Amino acid sequence: MSAATDSPLAAVLVLAAGEGTRMRSKALPKVLHPICGRSLLGHVVAAVEELAPRQLAVVVGHRRELVAQHLGEAHPGARVVVQEAQLGTGNAARVAVEALAADGVVLDGTVIVTYGDTPLLTAGTLRLLAEQHAEQGNGVTVLTAHVPDPTGYGRILRAADGSVTGIVEHRDATEEQRAVREINSGVYAFEGKLLADALARITTDNAQGEEYLTDTLEILRTAGHRVGAVVAADHRDILGINDRVQLAEARRLLNDRLLERAMRAGVTVVDPATTWLDVQVSYEPDAVVHPGTRLHGTTHLAEGCEVGPDCTLTDTAVGAGAVVTATTAERAEIGEGCQVGPYAYLRPGAKLARKAKAGTYVEIKNSELGEGAKVPHLSYIGDATIGAGTNIGAASVTVNYDGVNKHRTVIGEHCRTGADNMFIAPVTVGDGAYTAAGSVIDKEVPPGALGVGRAQQRNIEGWVARKRPGTPTADAAAAARGKAEEA
Ligand code: UD1
Ligand code: CA
Repeated sequence: MSAATDSPLAAVLVLAAGEGTRMRSKALPKVLHPICGRSLLGHVVAAVEELAPRQLAVVVGHRRELVAQHLGEAHPGARVVVQEAQLGTGNAARVAVEALAADGVVLDGTVIVTYGDTPLLTAGTLRLLAEQHAEQGNGVTVLTAHVPDPTGYGRILRAADGSVTGIVEHRDATEEQRAVREINSGVYAFEGKLLADALARITTDNAQGEEYLTDTLEILRTAGHRVGAVVAADHRDILGINDRVQLAEARRLLNDRLLERAMRAGVTVVDPATTWLDVQVSYEPDAVVHPGTRLHGTTHLAEGCEVGPDCTLTDTAVGAGAVVTATTAERAEIGEGCQVGPYAYLRPGAKLARKAKAGTYVEIKNSELGEGAKVPHLSYIGDATIGAGTNIGAASVTVNYDGVNKHRTVIGEHCRTGADNMFIAPVTVGDGAYTAAGSVIDKEVPPGALGVGRAQQRNIEGWVARKRPGTPTADAAAAARGKAEEA
């Protein structure tokens, strides 16, 4: 892995083998559920990677092929360790330590053990835990937090002098212990040399018949080692996700964090309550985000652009000063000063040069619009190149698909195409050409020509009177005829 070999952190073990039954998910193991652009596990691993540990091992078990594949794609530096049966957090940590030992890794120094379901944990908090642990010379140091509602969490037990004596799980706790509001976050720093031995001494003597990692605190204390605790400054940072209610809570909290960062960097967020960001979204000062906007993936907002209300942009670049309203875009490039929407749909490969326009009910896919080119109304532009300064008439379609293959439409610079044109691709319209409204253009239009491709109109006089007598239409026609005769 890419980690620095001189890192003071010997290893980080991330436990992610559990099924997460409380999520009630058939599709995904708990740790792969996404929030704000990463899986729960991905958030944890990203925080850990900032610390550059010498070893990073992730314990997988339930639906391991999915989790391992995800790690391979998103975090190739992580070593995947398999826990065959989910016998508890203590067992999971033991499996990881044994796998590292089998590979000849000596755990010399601090080892952090953390769970894969705490996506709000930051690198800063992990660093603080590791530092305090080393400074105090502890055998183990647990990250704790005081929470308003400790239901479900392990409770921190302290002696009269305040020293930590152990952790009791909610299900194993007495009424008195359940009243304790200081909880176990599930993040620990261990002295590497003591870890394997402590894990080997865990029993399954508890309500769930599992090997609890939490038992290591009492084991190490009884063996005469120092047991410490670091209390998290903000209890919300250690929220463990067990069900979908907590998933939504974590998404909200992480989103608030991302919004605050954006606002402090100079972005105006008109309505934080209805604005959603992914972790990799980036921005420049004076970008304005209007209500009901979701920015996903690697979306970038350049200086002074305005996005929203009601936009969903994924992996899309918005140029400086561009105005994007009620638009859905994915892998699109919107140039400086462009105007997009309302009700535009930019699909992958839509590239709008400076000051181009994609207006109302316009869909654009795999196409380039040159500088100042405009597609103002009700059109589909697919697999096309449209030159600078060209205006596409309302309700036009590039007919790009013959049912088997896709073909390109090329329209030159400064063209004026008529309303309701069908461009049957492959087809080319030269620079400075016009096309007539209602045309079906299936042959090249040379530069400067007017392309006309439509049937001639003919009128059949008296048709309504003959075929639709007695209707309001026939009456209206008769009245108009009468007036014309008077005149
Ligand atoms: C655990 C802690 C509890 C703490 C809480 C914090 C124990 C015994 N309890 O409880 O004190 O307050 O987290 O959120 O540790 N896992 C495995 N293999 C297993 C079992 C679990 O890898 O055999 C992984 C899970 O995937 C999960 C993590 O360990 O990421 C924690 O397991 P979970 O069942 O969620 O523990 P909690 O009951 O929340
Ligand atoms: Ca949990």
